Amino acid sequence: MRPLNVHPLPEHVAADDLAGGTTVVIDVLRATTTIVFALAAGARAVIPCLAVDDARARAAELPPDETVLAGERGGLPIGGFRLGNSPSEFTPESVAGKTVVMTTTNGTKALLHCRSVDRILIGAFANISALCTVLSECPRVDLVCSGTGDWTTDEDLLMAGAIVERLSADGDWKLDHCAHRVRGGWQSVARDATGGELSSYVATAMRATRGGRNLIEIGMQRDIETAAELDRFTIVPRFDPAAGRVEVDAPSR
Ligand code: MLT
Repeated sequence: MRPLNVHPLPEHVAADDLAGGTTVVIDVLRATTTIVFALAAGARAVIPCLAVDDARARAAELPPDETVLAGERGGLPIGGFRLGNSPSEFTPESVAGKTVVMTTTNGTKALLHCRSVDRILIGAFANISALCTVLSECPRVDLVCSGTGDWTTDEDLLMAGAIVERLSADGDWKLDHCAHRVRGGWQSVARDATGGELSSYVATAMRATRGGRNLIEIGMQRDIETAAELDRFTIVPRFDPAAGRVEVDAPSR
């Protein structure tokens, strides 16, 4: 049986304990969704940074006409940055052929937490089927949810549940306790969706989560619908910690 583990917050697992497996980082609202959108729009790479000043310094090392600073604090665009963290801002017009240097409150932090792991993939509803196809071949999978601060976020657990549901339909996975729990959460949403469009049920569920409520409060509720849309893309971005870059392997683009 292949281990399939869910970690509700990055701090719940030491990066060393993820060694040897494939780790998926999830921040559905919105960092990992935005990374998928950016690379699908033709960005060369996304460079995740911890702090706003790190992002500015990293961008300053790169050619200005090929570099886009992006990210959020408190959900809002950062002063002097070209883009915020709304997935729909990342279009071919804004990022194709460019390197996006990005810092977000939790998502880029979660990615950097995992940086000693060999294989780190980016998960979002926007690429869930392509991601699950890759994961179905892996001997061990860990799903790391970004959460927000010290709090777990139900939208990330929902996405983790959707992955667990799809993989465990194969039968030869050994689920940890949290994987069992989040699969149940996903099944209740998916069951409600019978006969309906799944993405709109996911959006409804996410509007009630901590991340969803935060976005509604700051007037960015449209990002919830965008992030809830399943399988908009077929790319599976990978974070190469040695290079500090998230990219798409050529054959899957
Ligand atoms: C994060 O990284 O904390 C999120 O993506 C927050 C957001 O975009 O509002």
